[in-house]
Amino acid sequence: MKRIAVLTSGGDCSGMNATLRAVVRAGIASQVEVIGIQKGFQGLIDRLYETMTTRSVSNVLQRGGTFLQSARCAEMHTAAGLRLASENLKGMGVEGLIIIGGDGSLKGGYAIHQQGIPVIGIPASIDNDIPFTDMSLGVDTALNNIVSAVDKLKDTASSHDRAFVVETMGRGCGYLAVVATIASGAEYSIIPEEPFDLDHICEDLRRRYREGRSNSIILVAEGAGKAQDIADQIKDRIGFETRVTVLGHYQRGGAPTVFDRLLGARFGQAAVENLLNGNHGKMVGLQAAEIMLTELEKVISAKSRPIDPMLPWLANQLSV
Ligand code: F6P
Repeated sequence: MKRIAVLTSGGDCSGMNATLRAVVRAGIASQVEVIGIQKGFQGLIDRLYETMTTRSVSNVLQRGGTFLQSARCAEMHTAAGLRLASENLKGMGVEGLIIIGGDGSLKGGYAIHQQGIPVIGIPASIDNDIPFTDMSLGVDTALNNIVSAVDKLKDTASSHDRAFVVETMGRGCGYLAVVATIASGAEYSIIPEEPFDLDHICEDLRRRYREGRSNSIILVAEGAGKAQDIADQIKDRIGFETRVTVLGHYQRGGAPTVFDRLLGARFGQAAVENLLNGNHGKMVGLQAAEIMLTELEKVISAKSRPIDPMLPWLANQLSV
């Protein structure tokens, strides 16, 4: 291959720039021209692209978001959109494509692969719900953002004997809420994967209040309900005054952690190497600390990555 392209798609996350840098530099090191497609799949349809040089990716490693920008593109769900995207790629002389994104983006990647353009996917989503990888890009940075926010909320909560209900992202997956509960020492996580009993939670929070604890933190994954609704239901039953914080997109930004920078470097390099070696139609992933490849078809037809049941158990166990 003489020319490959890369794009970031779907929800952005920290570590995408580190991955782009690795793709561009590993490509250039292998004497391959790398084209950066702007605004995800939308840029494939609208032919928004530029040739990357080593300078295009200097000073981006430490920045959150994606300098190529991202988009959620409805046209890519249509046969005509897919055809146009593939024709445009061929028109640009692109012989292989690397897609950095979440489950929807990997589905789009597989569809392009089926049009005859070799594709490698790189899993990137703070939700950590992509199967066949222990960690997706951006998860570690998002967790650090949540934990740092909860640490600060504890300061103010304990100054006023308050309980905070904190909403994290996670459309269908409670990974962020549960791991942040363990890492921040919060009392409860409410997640879509497990039923929860508000009466039991209220009883336990009331006990903590009677014992003289100065604060309580409950993390709610957005897929399990609205923090405000939970707070409204518990506020007169727990002793503590109640406040709500919705962390929202704050979780997705900021300088990537070392973990995400390293993961981006490893994923990006492995994606280029495998694309050039003809080992495509696959997603790179992290499995037991090793970079492994899984058929894209298998990734997109598998269920979302389930949460390890040990994690909610551990969160409960440590919140006595
Ligand atoms: O898929 C990742 C995610 O961060 C979800 O947790 C969240 O629901 C969604 O993206 C929000 O994305 P946006 O507002 O950018 O469409």
